[in-house]
Amino acid sequence: MKLQLTPEEQAMLAGEDGPGVQKAMEIVVALGQIYGAADLVPVASVQVSGVSYKNLGDAGLEFLQEWAAQGAQARVPATLNPAGMDRVAWRDLGFSEEFAQRQEAVIAAYEALGIAPTCTCTPYQVGHVPKFGRHLAWAESSAVSYANSVLGARTNREGGPSALAAAISGRTARYGLHLDGNRLPTAVVDVHCPVSSEADLGALGYLVGRQVKNGVPYFRFAHWHADVTDLKALGAAMAASGAVALYHVEGLTPEAEALKPHSAAQRLAIDDLAPGYAALNGPADKVDLVSIGCPHASLAELEAIATYLDGRQVTAELWITTARTIRQAAEEGGLVARIEAAGGRVVADTCLVVAPVAELGFRNMATNSAKMAVYAPSHSGLSVRFGTMGQCLEAAVTGRWS
Ligand code: F3S
Repeated sequence: MKLQLTPEEQAMLAGEDGPGVQKAMEIVVALGQIYGAADLVPVASVQVSGVSYKNLGDAGLEFLQEWAAQGAQARVPATLNPAGMDRVAWRDLGFSEEFAQRQEAVIAAYEALGIAPTCTCTPYQVGHVPKFGRHLAWAESSAVSYANSVLGARTNREGGPSALAAAISGRTARYGLHLDGNRLPTAVVDVHCPVSSEADLGALGYLVGRQVKNGVPYFRFAHWHADVTDLKALGAAMAASGAVALYHVEGLTPEAEALKPHSAAQRLAIDDLAPGYAALNGPADKVDLVSIGCPHASLAELEAIATYLDGRQVTAELWITTARTIRQAAEEGGLVARIEAAGGRVVADTCLVVAPVAELGFRNMATNSAKMAVYAPSHSGLSVRFGTMGQCLEAAVTGRWS
């Protein structure tokens, strides 16, 4: 199929809007040709990943600076994924001066490109909430899953450069999840066991993601006791274990009614979450770092944590990662002071997968995030314990997993 471009897109590709826009169009068009797209589609917004200097290095930083020097600018609202450190408290948290300088240079390059330095993987919690049916170009697998599934917007799993190219050109290639037919369920998942926490949804997501790989699961829950906001944990887990970018939940998500499963869809039955918990748990009993906030914590989660910690004191490091604006709201509401009084830290702008945490001396992590449990061993060299927020906070208090 030949990719059709509008006259405006052809002009951009020919360099009429400058070399920075031309480069962006070359990337978008190349992807369209690879994936057999018929045309491009304007995007309503972009979420850009690839922000941590730990992952980008000097080569990535120079690539961004060169693109910015060509005068390229985002032409649609665009936000940024977590960076490699808290931009305010990095020194207190043990990050080096050199790392901090390079990290700030990366963020400055993105700002020069017109990307808002939100530094969060939950843009939908800080005002970047796409409308149903809108086409997006979002990177960050958990955010992609949330945008597609919970909000009903349309985005493929973009990479860092392709998302940036979409921001600068205002376009993405129309293929994959931009097309109606690819949003139909490929698997029906009947969940017979009770699901009552973000960790249960994480364990479930881990199990399902491994079985439906790249597919579109359609969940039917027999005993749903979780909060709808916990769906971010389900999507993040499936994104990590099976590259799932869209799912539907009967009676909950916005396309579930219209996109009923076909009779040929794969059938799965989940009777027990224990295999998910077992697969995500390492053997270590000692815990020196507790991570909550993957995906980034909401204000409600910070409230629950502060309430749990009132009158307690942690012995392990407790890092709750969140967006800067959520941290500010939590500070104004007194939540940060309550968490800090117990010895915990509310860390903004970063996450424990993209920050150089192994260099900070941590070895054994506890987390309530299945995504973190999947990535921390390989990305940060940490041994992981996985369980509910309550179990993790108890481990932060005792320094042991029980
Ligand atoms: Fe967000 Fe990092 Fe988890 S980007 S989803 S906190 S791995």
